[in-house]
Amino acid sequence: MNRREFLTTTLAAGAATSTVSAAATQDGKTVKIIGVSCSPRKGKTTSAALTICLEAAKAVDPGITTELIELAGRNIGVYDPADAKASQGGFADLIPVLSHPDVAAIVVGTPVYFGNMSSLCKAFLDHCMVFRQQSFALAGKVGGIVAVGAGRNGGQELTLQSVQAALMCQQMIIVGDGRPTSHFGATLINTNDDISKDEFGISTAKNLGRHIAEVALKLAAGTK
Ligand SMILES: Cc1cc2nc3c(=O)[nH]c(=O)nc-3n(C[C@H](O)[C@H](O)[C@H](O)COP(=O)(O)O)c2cc1C
Repeated sequence: MNRREFLTTTLAAGAATSTVSAAATQDGKTVKIIGVSCSPRKGKTTSAALTICLEAAKAVDPGITTELIELAGRNIGVYDPADAKASQGGFADLIPVLSHPDVAAIVVGTPVYFGNMSSLCKAFLDHCMVFRQQSFALAGKVGGIVAVGAGRNGGQELTLQSVQAALMCQQMIIVGDGRPTSHFGATLINTNDDISKDEFGISTAKNLGRHIAEVALKLAAGTK
């Protein structure tokens, strides 16, 4: 099977067999929001921040379902466009999950590493080339970003912008944290592997989740 055949088969199979929940919103639409944690450390501050964001999204409408995917431990290597199997390995099973039509939004969470996203996050975003090549399978999905650093000005905002740029290349609809903070996404500070005392950062994560859900619901209603 060549690369194109592999990708086509994988996407088609995913659309048919993915276990995406069938809960419906008040408008009768299925709205699923997926968080992708790009921290090499499973269950640490990036996933904690994403969980807060997803909980806030879920609270907007009982029909919204959420799922947190941790990339930690997955074998997602450097993306090599010359490698016909570049999208296999630890990324392959994410292809049908992320591109499923019921997935209305994707929240990418990353730790700040030297003022920007983690290398795992960059590898993940590069592997997302497959979606561009397959008729922009992420187009029209809402995208939001969560960045967690150890410093107050550790590079969270630059990190948000870098990830946003990559998601814009997927023709995703990028949103920031909603009111009242209302800036570019969620920016949190990790103190001794704990974000619970970062009240402002937590509010940005909640406002991001709520805003993502609100926009996803509006888009879903528009396609009814
Ligand atoms: C290689 C490396 C580089 C880092 N660079 C920064 C940085 O530039 N700015 C910052 O605020 N924190 C930096 N940190 C701290 C992490 O962003 C912070 O601990 C984050 O919460 C880790 O996420 P995790 O708990 O999900 O692993 C760095 C950590 C590592 C391991």
